[in-house]
Amino acid sequence: MKKKAIIITGANGNVGAYFARKFLESGQNLILLIHKNEQRLQDIQQEFAENFRIIKVDLTDLTSLQNKFSKVIKETGWQPDRLIHTATKRSHDFKPLADTDPELWQKIINMNLVSTFNILKCAIPFFRKNNYGKIVLFGSNVTRIGLPKGSAYSASKAGIANIGRTLATEEAASNIIINTVSPGPIKIDDSQFSESYRKFREKYYNKKIREIPLKRCASFEDIFGLCRFLLSEENSYITGEEFFITGGKI
Ligand SMILES: NC(=O)c1ccc[n+]([C@@H]2O[C@H](COP(=O)([O-])OP(=O)(O)OC[C@H]3O[C@@H](n4cnc5c(N)ncnc54)[C@H](OP(=O)(O)O)[C@@H]3O)[C@@H](O)[C@H]2O)c1
Repeated sequence: MKKKAIIITGANGNVGAYFARKFLESGQNLILLIHKNEQRLQDIQQEFAENFRIIKVDLTDLTSLQNKFSKVIKETGWQPDRLIHTATKRSHDFKPLADTDPELWQKIINMNLVSTFNILKCAIPFFRKNNYGKIVLFGSNVTRIGLPKGSAYSASKAGIANIGRTLATEEAASNIIINTVSPGPIKIDDSQFSESYRKFREKYYNKKIREIPLKRCASFEDIFGLCRFLLSEENSYITGEEFFITGGKI
């Protein structure tokens, strides 16, 4: 029998790297998709070398993604049956829509929506072949509250949640289950951000925490617990939903 594998995009990101370690510790095989950076994955390289493969790819390039992905499947003989899509491009100019550079707007939309199309286009044929698949996409609480000075990000995240709803119907006959997880602020290590982005986040999140009934940001554990369940055998009926992890904040 072929070994099952989980695909994680944005695997060097805050959430992706945490998820990679947790799933490796529980004995899963992983196909980790990264973009430019891989520093967060260094500590798992020695420990779990046999259990994961890294694909370095720009998710907006479908041909490159499909070629590199097929190569890994051929080499490992693994059967991918779950996908966690965390990769994202954030805003970094923080301007109202009317003042936003059209090229930057398009870049964010392109990365967040086209990459979602591409990874699903790449993974779903494998899932269909085995009449089994579980998918978690990442939205954000901004899909329901908007994001002043972040129109491209908020529009693209809402688009991702709606791709999830659509695919839940399209792929139900292939026993593919898909949901979107939409967190509010997550407590992350922000040391890699530029000074201006760190200041923006600090100001934004200090205000946000005051509005959160549970008075804290989400932890990685909070996010992981739900995703693990959505991807598990226990979940055979929940599909097409968007789950908000916001400490009670609507
Ligand atoms: N962190 C939060 O507070 C928060 C709140 C709400 C929702 N979310 C959502 O939760 C998810 C995970 O967040 P996070 O904080 O872990 O994000 P993150 O640390 O910014 O990670 C995003 C990852 O996406 C990768 N990426 C960017 N452009 C790419 C491209 N063209 N092709 C392939 N990969 C690309 C980045 O790789 P490189 O660095 O190498 O470019 C990075 O590893 C995201 O979808 C985010 O929108 C996060």
